[in-house]
Amino acid sequence: MDSNSPRPSVALRRLVNGYQVTQAIHVAAVLGIADLLAAGPRSSDALAAATNTHPGTLYRLLRALAGVGVFHEEGDRSFALTELGVCLRSDAPEPIGGWAAFVGEAYHWQAWSGLLHSVRTGENAFQHVHGTDPWTFRARHPELSAGFDRAMTDLSRQLSAALLAAYDFGRFGQIVDVGGGNGAFLASILAKHPHLHGVLCDQPHVVSGAGPVLAAAGVADRCEVVGGSFFEAAPAGGDAYILKAILHDWEDAPCIQILQTCRRAMAAGTVLLVVERDLGQPNQDPDAKFSDLNMLVGPMGRERTPEEYAALFAAVGFRFVRFAPSAVDTGVYEGVAA
Ligand SMILES: C[S@@+](CC[C@H](N)C(=O)[O-])C[C@H]1O[C@@H](n2cnc3c(N)ncnc32)[C@H](O)[C@@H]1O
Repeated sequence: MDSNSPRPSVALRRLVNGYQVTQAIHVAAVLGIADLLAAGPRSSDALAAATNTHPGTLYRLLRALAGVGVFHEEGDRSFALTELGVCLRSDAPEPIGGWAAFVGEAYHWQAWSGLLHSVRTGENAFQHVHGTDPWTFRARHPELSAGFDRAMTDLSRQLSAALLAAYDFGRFGQIVDVGGGNGAFLASILAKHPHLHGVLCDQPHVVSGAGPVLAAAGVADRCEVVGGSFFEAAPAGGDAYILKAILHDWEDAPCIQILQTCRRAMAAGTVLLVVERDLGQPNQDPDAKFSDLNMLVGPMGRERTPEEYAALFAAVGFRFVRFAPSAVDTGVYEGVAA
């Protein structure tokens, strides 16, 4: 054991208590504390006044988060942003605040309470706890749906630069992003490649939130927005089709249905770009392995290996070309419609 590492029991207890950190960051994100610290340190009393919270209790929250490096306690109960805390700002280049707000939401939190049920039965925890799937649940709760879309927008912003460096999206003329959420990833591609046109499709109540995202990136005039289900149809005419963070939401049979929908819209030779994690090697890549559990608990999907994606491609008549890894744990699985 490294002389600097904590005793095994202490290290394990910290892991066990990770839920406390999750909820504390969630509260700071929901209150917008990082934005309030953007101009410099402020006292916890001033932050309490600005957020309409209980001063003594907000201080305890910020003090705890300073203990794990999210904020820095300056003395006289003032706090500053650290490198980690900056990522909670809404204007951060790689924002995590929307994700923190979503992950701590009661309905997501409650779904994770069904993990033991999932492990005992192989069934989906979300369905067990809420009696429906997350897509139907969120469609019934517009504010939770908007919160999830913001979380996805944050994750796309966090990954975009690495993905655009890893794969040349500029070789196409028209890209269709199937299940593209509010359009953050497609917007980043269009912003980098001014000759490109895009088609964004997702559920109608999701694409209805795309306008501000596309406008902020200055690409709204080059992007068509289409509402609908990827189990029914995808827009024709693209020369590349993106599925980013879609297949990991589903088991193999619905993945094949989604790929078949895309294939029907694609001419032979059209490129398929599946943007997903690589599940990684044993004993490594905890982010991918815990995302796999998150998929089990939430939408009843799974993370996969490049071989498993290649098998899905083959099942629908896509030739698997290559996996383009990036500097982050997500890469581009490229296929071609045979
Ligand atoms: C994990 S999110 C990924 C969003 C986006 N591609 C990204 O990477 O930020 C999955 C997306 O699938 C969409 N989705 C779920 N069921 C769908 C359906 N039946 N038809 C179209 N989109 C659907 C959701 O609305 C959501 O935007």
